[in-house]
Amino acid sequence: MPTADGKLGVGIAGIGWCASQHIVAFQRNPQADVTWLFGRDAGRTRANLDRYAVSVSGARITTRYEDLLNAPDVDIIAIATPNHLHAGQAVAAAAAGKHILLEKPTGLDEEELIRIRDAVTRAGVRTIVSFELRYNPFLKFAHWLRASGQLGAIRFARTQYLSRVTDWYSGWDWCRTKESGRSHLLAAGCHAVDALRWCSGLEPVDVSAMHTRFTEGYEWPTSIVVNTKLEGGALGHVTSSTDFMMPYTFSVELMGDRATLRQNELQSLDGALDLAALAAANPFSEVTLEESVDVLGRPTIAIHTDMPGSADVSHHPFQAEIDELVACVLDDRETSISVFDAQKTMEVCLAADRSADRGGAPVSLPLIRD
Ligand SMILES: NC(=O)c1ccc[n+]([C@@H]2O[C@H](COP(=O)([O-])OP(=O)(O)OC[C@H]3O[C@@H](n4cnc5c(N)ncnc54)[C@H](OP(=O)(O)O)[C@@H]3O)[C@@H](O)[C@H]2O)c1
Repeated sequence: MPTADGKLGVGIAGIGWCASQHIVAFQRNPQADVTWLFGRDAGRTRANLDRYAVSVSGARITTRYEDLLNAPDVDIIAIATPNHLHAGQAVAAAAAGKHILLEKPTGLDEEELIRIRDAVTRAGVRTIVSFELRYNPFLKFAHWLRASGQLGAIRFARTQYLSRVTDWYSGWDWCRTKESGRSHLLAAGCHAVDALRWCSGLEPVDVSAMHTRFTEGYEWPTSIVVNTKLEGGALGHVTSSTDFMMPYTFSVELMGDRATLRQNELQSLDGALDLAALAAANPFSEVTLEESVDVLGRPTIAIHTDMPGSADVSHHPFQAEIDELVACVLDDRETSISVFDAQKTMEVCLAADRSADRGGAPVSLPLIRD
């Protein structure tokens, strides 16, 4: 039920680093109002609001998640707690008839994924999962290039999520554990798996992976490489690691039978790409294209836009994700990253972890049949 001034009321669970940006984005949406905050300790919740310079006047603070479930002025619950709490809190939110913003990873195993799917199906609530890099202008452009046929049929797709996360991270104590963080793909690299699926438009059908560990403190392997066979015979590859001495890197490469995208560089053979025609067709005002050359002096089209270049949550496009959820709740339509779609990304992660545990033996998808 909307709040007195007709806005959707929002309860936020887990007032930490990520939730701080959910709060900012919901407060900026003219049709939403943050009404409740849930943390395990009210003093710590206030301290975290100060720490992340977020002010939410009027929101009530509670130490009981049930208060969000029972509050008539909560229409949407945003779940940004540690990973092992997501499934239980999402199932409870759906059962209470609340729409849900669910942080990744949605579920940590098949049983959790099925519970979320079934609870959301039963309740008929709207959900959106924070694979918010889909709203980054470079990823949107990569997705459009492929979907509009500029690259031709995809033969190979590769994504990378390389981010050096150690004890500087606010969630270090829970994230590094098997119980909650669980694996590098589940805790972090699922963004790259999601980008592989979304940008290529192809679902993985077989997965084979290898993992290793270097970084101290983690209870799980800290690097994983994933090979996948994609539907239609194309190949895919994902690298997900916290081990490398380099700045945060999120990369996307799509190789089609017409042209190749390698991060912000577009190339082809025999003049198959026409810069003027591409620029005229480009639907994104925040993306500009320019004639350029690669390091060997060969012609390229350079893509200029805001790249996915930072691990900092304040750089992530949560606003677009949250605006979509609010609009979909008000219009009673499905979001573009529902728990049903995100489940496919999570299944690839689970299959890759299972394959790596078995020394690279292939695992077939989907893991969960309808
Ligand atoms: N989509 C993205 O790009 C993105 C980016 C970063 C994080 N995330 C996700 O957001 C979620 C939260 O991550 P974060 O980086 O915000 O972590 P965080 O800074 O540690 O925040 C999590 C908050 O959850 C609360 N909490 C409730 N139960 C807890 C428990 N049993 N153990 C520890 N904390 C508990 C803590 O507040 P109290 O102690 O006061 O209860 C803590 O402040 C994770 O699922 C993560 O994967 C997503």
